[in-house]
Amino acid sequence: MNLTELNRIATAMVAPGKGILAADESSGTIKKRFDAIGVDSTEANRRDYREMLFRSKEAISQYISGVILYDETIWQDAKDGTPLVKLIEQSGAIPGIKVDEGTQALPMCPGELVTVGLDKLAERLKKYYERGARFAKWRAVIHIGSGIPSMTAISVNAHALARYAALCQAAQIVPIVEPEVLMDGDHDIDRCYEVTQRVLNKTFQELRVQRVALEGMVLKPNMAISGKKCAKQASVEEVAEKTIRLLKACVPAAVPGIAFLSGGQSDEEATAHLNAMHKLGQLPWGLTFSYGRALQAAPQKAWSGRPENVAAGQAAFSHRARMNGLAAKGEWQSSLEQKAA
Ligand code: 13P
Repeated sequence: MNLTELNRIATAMVAPGKGILAADESSGTIKKRFDAIGVDSTEANRRDYREMLFRSKEAISQYISGVILYDETIWQDAKDGTPLVKLIEQSGAIPGIKVDEGTQALPMCPGELVTVGLDKLAERLKKYYERGARFAKWRAVIHIGSGIPSMTAISVNAHALARYAALCQAAQIVPIVEPEVLMDGDHDIDRCYEVTQRVLNKTFQELRVQRVALEGMVLKPNMAISGKKCAKQASVEEVAEKTIRLLKACVPAAVPGIAFLSGGQSDEEATAHLNAMHKLGQLPWGLTFSYGRALQAAPQKAWSGRPENVAAGQAAFSHRARMNGLAAKGEWQSSLEQKAA
């Protein structure tokens, strides 16, 4: 393992004013997104849609540090035969790959999940590296509900995240470690804070036990945020203040960067939260976005599967990328959104 190189890549992934495009929806998830805009989820349509995003050259070169791909996409070529991975590289971003294989029910723990995909991961990583991937992603999912999460769910998921991260580093790939505490439910922000704190502490404990080099990874957490169905929704300032307090308490300064998931927040909320965090002063790590839905909802709608809408889809994507790029430096203002509309 070359830790200097892993650290260089991890640092580039969270470069000031840049963040990550999570375009790694599994076939099931992208079908849901396409259903919402009335597009058939065929292999060609999935390729055309992602090719549209990756050819948004100006936005990617200025605001996007890396792109997370799904297995199907990393092997696909653009219409003109150029591998999609090359399009990303030509736009100046680093290609990455989602390597977990989704979740399964966790035995003895009703309502809880464990992420799978460790078997044969070492061999798969080798092939992804050869294809150009320089970082990877593994997402663990933690539910908040009555009596959950259990320590069992937190523990097995942290163990799997650390196993994955160690395998990545051995294959010279930067692991994005993503323990997502879901915002589904009616819990308040303080409950989210408390659960996320337990999850992050357990995750870093496992990372240390399994000898993962913190300098060569990126953390992808949820924010401390109210459950979607909570009657009392925390303000932007409260989300920012509690999230930063939580991360300072749990994430060692050796970690080069933190890149948030959007997790079901609206586009503008996700941007406003990141921006507000940067208003709070100096931070020990790079802090940016690794958004899926919050970067893609607008371009998906603008595109709607029609070739004549490609320019509109790219404009919508470029706008969100720019808004989040500004937020990653604390330079975003809501008036910039209105101007675009
Ligand atoms: P969202 O931003 O849509 O939550 O997706 C990010 C991601 O990659 C989840 O694993």
